[in-house]
Amino acid sequence: MSVPKRYTVTSALPYANGPLHIGHIAGAYLPADIYVRYLRLWKRDVAFICGSDEHGAAITLRAKKEGITPKEIIDKYHILNKKAFEDFGISFDIYHRTSDPLHYETAQEIFKTLLKNGKLTVETTEQFYDEEFNQFLADRYIMGTCPKCANPNAYGDQCEKCGTALSPTDLINPHSILSKKPPVLKTTEHWFLPMQDSQQWVEEWIKTGKFTGMEKPIAWHDPEEWKGNVKGQCLSWLKDGLRPRAMTRDLDWGVPVPLPEAKGKVLYVWLDAPIGYISATKQWAKDAGKDWEPYWKSEDTKLLHFIGKDNIVFHCIIFPIILKENGGYILPDNIPANEFLNLEGDKISTSRNHAVWLHEYLEDFPGRRDELRYVLTSIAPENGDSEFTWKDFQTRVNSELLSILGNYVNRVMVLYHKYFSGKIESATDQLDFTDQALHDFVGKIYDALGANLEQYKFRQAQFDAMELARFGNKYLTDLEPWKLFATDPVKVREILNNNLILILHLAAVIQPFMPDTAKKIFRMVNMPKEVYGWEDELTLPNHHQINPAEHLFSKIEDDVIEKQLLRLEEAKKLNMEPTNIPAQKESISYDDFSKMDIRVGTILTAEKVAKTKKLLKLTINTGIDERTVVSGIAEYFSPEEVIGQQVLILVNLEPRMLAGIESQGMILMAEAPDGSLKFVSPTEGKSPNGAIVK
Ligand code: 2FM
Ligand code: ZN
Repeated sequence: MSVPKRYTVTSALPYANGPLHIGHIAGAYLPADIYVRYLRLWKRDVAFICGSDEHGAAITLRAKKEGITPKEIIDKYHILNKKAFEDFGISFDIYHRTSDPLHYETAQEIFKTLLKNGKLTVETTEQFYDEEFNQFLADRYIMGTCPKCANPNAYGDQCEKCGTALSPTDLINPHSILSKKPPVLKTTEHWFLPMQDSQQWVEEWIKTGKFTGMEKPIAWHDPEEWKGNVKGQCLSWLKDGLRPRAMTRDLDWGVPVPLPEAKGKVLYVWLDAPIGYISATKQWAKDAGKDWEPYWKSEDTKLLHFIGKDNIVFHCIIFPIILKENGGYILPDNIPANEFLNLEGDKISTSRNHAVWLHEYLEDFPGRRDELRYVLTSIAPENGDSEFTWKDFQTRVNSELLSILGNYVNRVMVLYHKYFSGKIESATDQLDFTDQALHDFVGKIYDALGANLEQYKFRQAQFDAMELARFGNKYLTDLEPWKLFATDPVKVREILNNNLILILHLAAVIQPFMPDTAKKIFRMVNMPKEVYGWEDELTLPNHHQINPAEHLFSKIEDDVIEKQLLRLEEAKKLNMEPTNIPAQKESISYDDFSKMDIRVGTILTAEKVAKTKKLLKLTINTGIDERTVVSGIAEYFSPEEVIGQQVLILVNLEPRMLAGIESQGMILMAEAPDGSLKFVSPTEGKSPNGAIVK
């Protein structure tokens, strides 16, 4: 396989409406940074591209809520996030922003080209509209129940629970986020990408890496090697059949649709954010006095998108269609998307403040960014969701970084100073390995690590790098130079020389993962450069003097971890609101419990009970029958929004009369301390009516 002439590596543009957390970092930024640092060690030509995504309904919504302008929000978070990335050592070549005029120009140009090429269709559609706020409701302004998994908090564009991409009209019981009321449908014009026209070539391309009529198939990578999670999501989308998707929205914040008749309309994220990669590349090239075009248009460029799993279809299907239909652009070679990182047994949540924020970590752990880089890579959600816990962080730092890596390097340095005052004396001009087995082992590690990185297996690659430290510790322990010094100082010199060269290679291989630690080692050994490419010689001149030993890592004490855990606990408590949680009731026997016959049912009809405030009269399909239940939920739910809702119903409760109506059972509700009610229903997809709850 030939080597690409250049690489364009992108990481998903994070929304500039909140700070970054470790889930973002582990998903799309750290793996990309490791990969890019690795490429740079081979002196490859790389453009590492990212920036703030400064559009989208989440930003306007937040601005509305806080009574400020979107610009105030994006300025704040663009600066905060840019700095956090820098402080964490994510080595973007540019961190651009989508509010930049160059980006507007680029996105509008692509829109116009697609239109000219006949690749966009304008359609009159019915769109949800909030009559109280007099505005159309773009995706995130609408919430409702997901038709696929029944999550009642799905957004108009996506259910965050099951990952399904949705259109607002797919939602069951939709309501406007602004007025909290059910929206009405109103006609509006939008520009659609007729994705169904691309079904065939996309399918062929995803399955084989090429398609009939493709000018030059991508030569760098076997499509078989796309990650299973990525391919799986794409194939399931393709199986459902590609559909036309609206590429514009009725919003007053974003890149305006460049047509006189499109006032008040902006380009949707699909035709905005990924084009941000291109406009950022243009800016970077301009600043660096380069030509941007080969980075996006030349067949000898390898294009890679690092993203989280929520953006898979976007980058594997929608963006490639845009690039191809525009013409002249290359397609990505790979999209090594990661799954999600959880935190202490729960999903990371910005709204609940259940997160480890990057900028806060950097404040709380100054000078310890490599520790987080190491741990996040060790647990990267490469093949499935994974979990960060502070206890595990502590264990990995103390018993891997400190006890294995730090300890090994320290032992070598201390012994070299103790026996030889830190000065090299060698029979040759340049000191290199004299132990062939050691030399071969190191060679194997470079190969394995490189192969793993080329396949985006970052966890394994970092493990490979750490093998040198594990090996070194054992090598030193087995040879026991401290027992030999009195009788054979020459042998001791040889052992320690080999170890000194080994720690240089150790530093070299950890560079992509832990760049600060690598630099510290090079500095300690008194090497002239901070970074060593993989074709650089790692030898030392005769009579070289090494610097004093320094500790690479220090122990993470329990109280430090406890403080972090406390912070998460406090956030949790705040979310619970400081109201009284009722105490647990008296114990009951299993028999008592099993007397209750609880079933899954679906609400078929609903109406207010006249002259009452709280009661709704419902007809429920219980799987056994259709029956009437009177339920005290009218203050929280309108009749229209509960129709179709799956519920749990206690079916063998004695019938009782409520407001003159016989109620034949009771719906189970979760009552929060503030008295608000939520339905209790199966969450992982619908269950059949009549399913027994036990
Ligand atoms: O989902 C998101 O976070 C959006 N800001 C889009 C990221 S992908 C992109 F940049 F193309
Ligand atoms: Zn869902």
